[in-house]
Amino acid sequence: MSLRGRNFVNVNDFSNKEFAEVLALAADLKRRTQAGITDQPLAGKVLGLIFQKPSLRTRASFEVAMHQLGGKAIYMSPAEVGMGTREAVDDVALVLSRYFDVIASRVFGHDVIEGLAENASVPVINALSEGEHPCQALADLLTLQEWRGDLKGQKVTYVGDGNNVAISLALACAKVGSHFAIAAPAGYQLPESCVKSFAAIAAETGSRLEQGDHPDKVAAGTTAFYTDVWTSMGQEEEQAKRLAAFKGFTITEELRAKGDDAIVLHCLPAHYGEEIERDVTRGRFSAIWDQAGNRLHAQKALLALVTPT
Ligand code: CP
Ligand code: NVA
Repeated sequence: MSLRGRNFVNVNDFSNKEFAEVLALAADLKRRTQAGITDQPLAGKVLGLIFQKPSLRTRASFEVAMHQLGGKAIYMSPAEVGMGTREAVDDVALVLSRYFDVIASRVFGHDVIEGLAENASVPVINALSEGEHPCQALADLLTLQEWRGDLKGQKVTYVGDGNNVAISLALACAKVGSHFAIAAPAGYQLPESCVKSFAAIAAETGSRLEQGDHPDKVAAGTTAFYTDVWTSMGQEEEQAKRLAAFKGFTITEELRAKGDDAIVLHCLPAHYGEEIERDVTRGRFSAIWDQAGNRLHAQKALLALVTPT
């Protein structure tokens, strides 16, 4: 079994075993890096970062990951590429495959990342689309494992919008045997396609899915509370409507204490006073900064496994 040459557009592109393999390598590479051991398995390889939206963590962690693996990353901004406007998505894929050994792209529509993956002859990694944020989910589970141990039987409770981050996290939890709960207002729950995929994966791993319309209804037994912004990139015109719909779907210390010694996770960037209180992110149960740091280690493992050598 090898992940070499494979795309990572959706969490479910990898089998449960393959997903676990990435997590195991991420933990190993993190230990090795912290011990000062420098592996350079991607010497001479080049990653293309093609982004339609802004980023702090994803771009920086991919660039550093490639550097630490002995390769190089080239970032191309939305304005210069004009993917889907200046140039057709399949043309971009056909051209960039001739320069890069691997591509990571942040896009609006999920169909854009799928179009890149279908037409590129090198692996394509989803660096966030409206449909999924699978690299985030890898770092999330690496962090949960570090803070709470065995992933099997953990309960991750997501408070807020059933968006790209929630979808990837739910499916990732299902793959490793963690339970997943979501508290979201009507109209913002996980899409039916995700609920179906969760059930199919969970039939093998025993994960349970709970859906509620108030955080208090799903808090019991939680080992990690998780949230993300109420208004994602590209939804700015819905902001007023969303602020009203999500009122009360906030991670506070009071909510955290209703779980089982629960830690707190957030993919960042955060809007303090909306989906999370700032104090919680600075408290002793906050794993948020380790989680941001783990983007690097998770993506190093991913790149090391999928990039053709
Ligand atoms: N969590 C995350 O993807 O952050 P950026 O948008 O800053 O990359
Ligand atoms: N759901 C957010 C995540 C940002 C990392 C967005 O898509 O903007």
